[in-house]
Amino acid sequence: MKLLLSKVWTLLWVASALAKSPRGAGLQRTVLLRRTQDDGLQKIVTWDQYSLMINGKRLMVFSGEVHPYRNPVQSLHLDVFQKIKAMGFNAVSFYVFWGILEPKRGEISFEGFRDLQPFFDAAKKAGLYLIARPGPYINAETAGGGFPGWGTYTPGLWRTSNTTYLDAYDGYIKAVGAKIAANEVTNGGPVILVQAENEYSGFQAPYTEDLDYEKKLIQSLRDAGVTVPITHNDAWPGGHLTMVDIYGYDSYPNGFDCSNPYVWKSDAVPEWFWGAHMSINPEDLNAVYEFQGGAFDGWGGSGYATCAVLTGPEFERVFYKNQIAMSTTLLNLYMTFGGTNWGGIAHPGVYTSYDYGSAIAEDRTLREKYYELKLQANFLAVSPAYLTSRPQNIYNTQGSFTKNSALKTTQVLDVVGNKTGFYVVRQTDASTNALQTYTLNLPTSIGNLKIPTIGGSLSLNGKDSKIHVVDYTAGSTTVLYSTAEIFTWATIDGKDIILVYGNAGELHETAFKFGTTPPAPEVLSGTGTFQQKTLASNSLALQFRTTGQTVVQVGSTLLYILDRANAYQFWALHPPTIGAFAQYSTENPIIVKGGYLLRSVEIRGSTLAIQGDLNDTATFEIIAPAASSKLVTFNGAPLC
Ligand SMILES: *[C@@H]1O[C@H](CO)[C@@H](O)[C@H](O)[C@H]1NC(C)=O
Ligand SMILES: *[C@@H]1O[C@H](CO)[C@@H](O)[C@H](O)[C@H]1NC(C)=O
Ligand SMILES: *[C@@H]1O[C@H](CO)[C@@H](O)[C@H](O)[C@H]1NC(C)=O
Repeated sequence: MKLLLSKVWTLLWVASALAKSPRGAGLQRTVLLRRTQDDGLQKIVTWDQYSLMINGKRLMVFSGEVHPYRNPVQSLHLDVFQKIKAMGFNAVSFYVFWGILEPKRGEISFEGFRDLQPFFDAAKKAGLYLIARPGPYINAETAGGGFPGWGTYTPGLWRTSNTTYLDAYDGYIKAVGAKIAANEVTNGGPVILVQAENEYSGFQAPYTEDLDYEKKLIQSLRDAGVTVPITHNDAWPGGHLTMVDIYGYDSYPNGFDCSNPYVWKSDAVPEWFWGAHMSINPEDLNAVYEFQGGAFDGWGGSGYATCAVLTGPEFERVFYKNQIAMSTTLLNLYMTFGGTNWGGIAHPGVYTSYDYGSAIAEDRTLREKYYELKLQANFLAVSPAYLTSRPQNIYNTQGSFTKNSALKTTQVLDVVGNKTGFYVVRQTDASTNALQTYTLNLPTSIGNLKIPTIGGSLSLNGKDSKIHVVDYTAGSTTVLYSTAEIFTWATIDGKDIILVYGNAGELHETAFKFGTTPPAPEVLSGTGTFQQKTLASNSLALQFRTTGQTVVQVGSTLLYILDRANAYQFWALHPPTIGAFAQYSTENPIIVKGGYLLRSVEIRGSTLAIQGDLNDTATFEIIAPAASSKLVTFNGAPLC
């Protein structure tokens, strides 16, 4: 990160770059075969046009950017990683700073704060995969973009195939490549992807993309022992450095003007990425290696509190859900924990704090942004249908499905599995604070429905976006549709527990489809009320308002109806299983309503041991298998 470019120029570049890109040749191919690709060197990390796979299993890679050198206290990595994991993320992406590791030419050190091993170990312990980005150039608002100071005295043009530069980085890439290789998943470590170079884009005449350099750098990483797929983050979807295994791009669509944090451009939400992705590398997943997670602030700037507003929960809802509308299955947020520019590593454009207004603040406390991300990441983690989806109407969204031209709706369908639909609704004009009401006309497995089916209308208030699902599988329950958004679901002791949420007081409908006549719904707890209607003799629609917390039982399904504030308090945790990937398990979810932060859970016989942090008195509500939660402890002390 981060190249600032005008949009028109960007689009021109896409066109001209495609003609040159080796993958651009794929343009002629109209029929794509669905086959699993690998890099020929290992079989653990594979991919196809839909998603990455680990051990053959698809996953949404929801990743947060963290820089080891911006938090050089090795013992603190685990704290940050556990917070990221508890948010529902499964990966962290990180840069390595060459200049820190080789301050004097030929003298490479991994001593003390320079050691990367504690970072690798903490990620594995927390159960996060790593995307390693060793440069050699990283930018990252660091001095010299991560190049060592002695580079200034080295003749020849860097970031080219000039041998003066190839010779200069050789020792560093050998050393850091070996460290990364030793910590790949193939060796029981957490590293799943390695990025070559960084935003190798935006050349100005007479300079051009140096394909020879790219080839040599990739070879250097391979020679150092890297076997996982090699990636590259183009500064925008412009088709540069496409010779890697999985090309992807970066995007900072809300800019960096933290002094006007409420001002969004009408057309700020990028819609052209899908088309660019399909013309550059349709054979790969739509991978975004950096998406705006905050904003940097320069000397004399308005401060990181304002950057956190510019990129706050509203921004997260609108912009991340737009990426979901484009079937993005690898999304890394830059930054998720910004940290501090220690020891003069900042470039002149930023000051000592690199807080970045990110979800986890510089002092490692959690912003509201964190809790909103938790809702989104958990939803995608339990929605396998999303992992084989395609947007159906990317350039025809205005007024679609709602007949309200002030709204845009993208239909994202699982094109391989159960035809689950994800309908992403947002404002046509991203700058507006207007309240829009709408009904949805959606195709479902029982025919077209006008939703809400019980009457009334849905609402989208100002800078917001929602994902409504259709024919969504949650254990043995089929959610025919839900306008209330799904936070998570789990099957526990034979019951499907489904948590849905909306803004306080909003009208929503959730409908279930059964094999036979629907069972009678009943309120188990809470003061909420609902209306009901049978649809097509086998489905049951419930209409309610998302106010507080109400639990409704329908057959063996428990529907938790939550307003946003209540949804924020729930955590989905996974006890580690056994074997090399124990910490990454997504089996046996346990859902707990607790306080400020629940980090992890373990099962010891019939005891459920929860670890977490509180900032106030908290009441716990534990949804776990009865046999493994006869006793519950919190940070070692029994809960009663
Ligand atoms: C590499 O850089 C050196 C030093 O500036 C220069 O003399 C040489 O011509 C460059 N080589 C190439 C192939 O451009
Ligand atoms: C499709 O439905 C079946 C049967 O309900 C279910 O087992 C499976 O998990 C669903 N697939 C996806 C991708 O949701
Ligand atoms: C505890 O943290 C939550 C979430 O950030 C916040 O909403 C709440 O105000 C905090 N409570 C106290 C007493 O600081």
